[in-house]
This record gives sequence, C-alpha cells and structure tokens, in this order.
Amino acid sequence: MSETVAVVLAAGKGTRMKSATPKVLHRIAGRTMIEWAVDAVLEAGATRAVVVVGHAREEVEAVVSARYGDRVAFALQDDPRGTGHAVRCAVEASEARLGAFDGPVLITMGDCPCVRPETLRALLEATGERPFGMMSSRLDDPRGYGRLIRNDAGDVVAIREDKDCSATEAAVRDVNPGLYVVRGDFLRKALAELRDDNAQGELYLTDLAATAAEADRVVDVPGDLGELLGVNDREQLATVTAVLRERITRALARGGVGIVDPATTYVEVDCEVAPDARLEPGVHLRGRCRVAAGAHVDVGCVLENVEVEAGAYLKPYTVATESRIGPEAKVGPFAHLRPGSELGPKVKVGNFCETKKTRIGEGSSIGHLAYVGDGEIGAGVNVGAGVIFCNYDGYRKHVTTLEDGSFIGSDSQLVAPVTVGAGAYVASGSTITRDVPPDGLAVARAKQANKEGYASRLRARLKPKD
Ligand code: UD1
Ligand code: CA
Repeated sequence: MSETVAVVLAAGKGTRMKSATPKVLHRIAGRTMIEWAVDAVLEAGATRAVVVVGHAREEVEAVVSARYGDRVAFALQDDPRGTGHAVRCAVEASEARLGAFDGPVLITMGDCPCVRPETLRALLEATGERPFGMMSSRLDDPRGYGRLIRNDAGDVVAIREDKDCSATEAAVRDVNPGLYVVRGDFLRKALAELRDDNAQGELYLTDLAATAAEADRVVDVPGDLGELLGVNDREQLATVTAVLRERITRALARGGVGIVDPATTYVEVDCEVAPDARLEPGVHLRGRCRVAAGAHVDVGCVLENVEVEAGAYLKPYTVATESRIGPEAKVGPFAHLRPGSELGPKVKVGNFCETKKTRIGEGSSIGHLAYVGDGEIGAGVNVGAGVIFCNYDGYRKHVTTLEDGSFIGSDSQLVAPVTVGAGAYVASGSTITRDVPPDGLAVARAKQANKEGYASRLRARLKPKD
C-alpha cells in the first residue's frame, strides 16, 4: 500500500471553551476530541500520523500515546503562529525522522471530531495526484469560517479568512471546514513561501489554496455539514456531542438493538450491545458496558463498565458501576449496584437496595431497602426488607456470608464478620453478631410483652387535665 501521512493540528489554546481542560481533551461519547480526530485519519488509511501539540502538550501527548503508542508521532509548535506554521512544524519533525515525503498528506483539525474515515478516503481519492484537495461546505451562517472564492468554472482559487473578508466575500456561504489533502512536494515548497501579511499576522495554511490554484485545479469535495462541524466553544461541543451520540445509537439500531429513541439514548463508543437487547429512553451506557441479547435496560438506567447478561431486566433508574448482572436477573427500580457486585442467574435486587463487592448466587432475592456490602451470598437466599450488612468497624471492612437457602428476616443487622449457615433462619429485627449454624434459627431481639388493658390506663395518665 502506498504511504499516506496525516497531520492533525492540536496546538491551539481553545480559549473560547473557557475551561481548565485543554480543548482537544474534552470528552465526547467516551473518547476525547483528539482521539476521535486521530481515529478518523488512521481508519482512513494514514500510514503515519503526526499530531501538532503546543498548549498543554504533556497532557495531550499522554492521552494520545496511551491510546496509539508509536503509531502516532508528535511535532511541537511552541509559539503558535497559525495553521500554516503548525503544519510546517509537522513537516519538519516528520522529515527529520523519516526523510522527505512527496505523497499525499492528509491534514485535519483536532477540533473537528465528527469527520468519518470514509469521507477522508473520498477526499484522498478525489485529490489523486493533484497538489491540493479540500472538503467544502455551505452554511447559512458562515461567520468564523474561511470563505471559498471560486472562478467562473466554479473551482476554488482562494480561501479568504473571516477576518480578511471584504463585504462581498463575507456574504459567501461556501466555507472551508479545514480538511485537506496536499501533495508532500508541493506542501514543502508552498509552506516555505507563506507570509503573515494578513489581519491576524499569522501564517495561514489556507493561503496554500491560491498557490495551488496557480499550478493546477483545486479539488473540493462537498461534505455533509454534520461531519464537518468544528468545536470552538461549549455550545459547539454540545452540538457535535449530539451528532456523535446519535451516530452511535443509530448504528446500534441498524444492528438490531431495540433502541426506542436514538436521540435520548446515551451509549459511549466502547460499549457493546447485542442485537435484540432493548434500551429505553434516558439510558446511559458508559465506559465499556456489554449488554447481551434479550436484556432489557429500562428508562433512566445509568451503567458504567457493567456486564448485563442475556434476558436480564434492569427496571427504571437503576444505577450500576463495575458490576455484572447475570442471565435473567431482575434489578430495580431505583437499585444501586456499586463496584464488585456480581449477580448470578435469576437474582432479584429490588427497589432502594444498595450492593457493593458482593457475589450473589442463583435465584437469591434482596427485595427491598437493603444494604449488602462485602458479602458472599449463596443460591436461593432470601434477604428481607431493610436488612443491613454492618461491614465496617471504622477501620476495616468485614465479610458477611449467607450460605445457600438461608433466610434473613426483615430489618435484621448482620454484624460482620459473620456467617449464616445453609438453610438457617434469622428472625426479623435481629442483630446478629455470632455465626448461625446451618439449619438453625437465630433470634436476637427483645422478647415481646403484652399488658392487657394498658393502653387506656396510659392514655388516662397522659391526657392533660385542663
Ligand atoms: C481555521 C481555518 C478556516 C476554517 C476553520 C474551520 C486557517 C487560517 N483558517 O480557522 O479557514 O474555516 O479553521 O474550522 O487555517 N492550530 C494550531 N496551531 C496554530 C493555530 C491553530 O495547531 O498556530 C490548530 C488549533 O489547535 C485547531 C486548528 O488548528 O485545532 C484550527 O485552529 P483555529 O484557530 O480554531 O482556526 P479557525 O480560526 O477556526
Ligand atoms: Ca476552529
């Protein structure tokens, strides 16, 4: 395969974001903006990629290196003097390492995360051997973008930056989204000739269009606006987030996932959802969730790094993190599964229950209002309403073990470490501090005393005497 170099510009400060986080490190649907941009160029077939860094370079490099290792190199632009200067830094860094490159150079912006690999491939193909090709787009409100100046034949002959536009040029709605393919040999020569005699005193990459037009036809490929949106502020970040989110959920729907409303279902890019699973509106799947076929995740559930097995049903507003939910388990509504909750097949965890670091065996049920932390629960166990595992002594966490078939009466506290043997009963309202033998019954509460006729005597005594 022939070589294609990609350059991704990400040295700018992103002042308009008004954020302590560098612009390209803002997250969209589970990935940072720069990762979306680099993924696109690599999937488009770039054989080497150079990311131009400057502002917050350590942070940006750390994120990029962690994901791509040595598939991506960096070029430092320590005094940002414009997009042309940024590409010059990339070309110099790349040549220093690997020598001069005359083939196609794909240039994209780190703040343009929606562009699809197939669009970049189409641009590479359309440009072919010509010196300069670019995406183009039409906007009702072109402010902020470079305008495309065309000749009578309709070919681009120059890109005029917003701040340099005459009144007539400013009215042009044909804009530059900032995605180009430039031949390496032309790029090297043209970059060397760039001058900063413009409104911003910068070296504009966009001036290459006019230079190229003198030599050959400039190719432009009209693109879908939704892909070409740039992010300069938080409002635009919200817009591209909606675009990418809906792209993910629509792809899942096409793949057979029962998504009721793609626009209000939030699935991060590294989650896997099998065909015939169902996701209701307001569901959030974050990190690396896996949802199996036939599972049903109902309205408003928020799951992060959770595995949901076949046929499980998560009722509305279940919140779960780092957990596994076994086949045909039923959870919620309003359940909270904290890290390390492992629910076996057909387990029930009902409303207002909280679980943490607990394995729960097949068919066990924790129906209502319980706290179950640091537990080992066997199969067929019943945990009554309001049961609390007292797992913490102020210094350490201790384990509560409920063996197969045991039954914990409502409103009991189990003071860990403690074990309730197989098939044993704990009477309601007990505070259990010692192990209960298998098949035993533990009652640990005050005995009930009934006093006949006492209520009316008490009322007579308590009633104020006017
Ligand atoms: C640029 C284009 C404009 C186009 C718009 C599309 C130029 C001169 N203008 O304008 O025609 O319509 O993008 O969004 O190219 N960057 C660097 N180093 C620099 C300057 C910028 O790495 O010295 C990076 C930024 O981090 C950013 C990208 O280049 O990722 C674009 O820079 P930005 O300042 O946002 O350019 P625009 O004004 O949007
Ligand atoms: Ca921009």
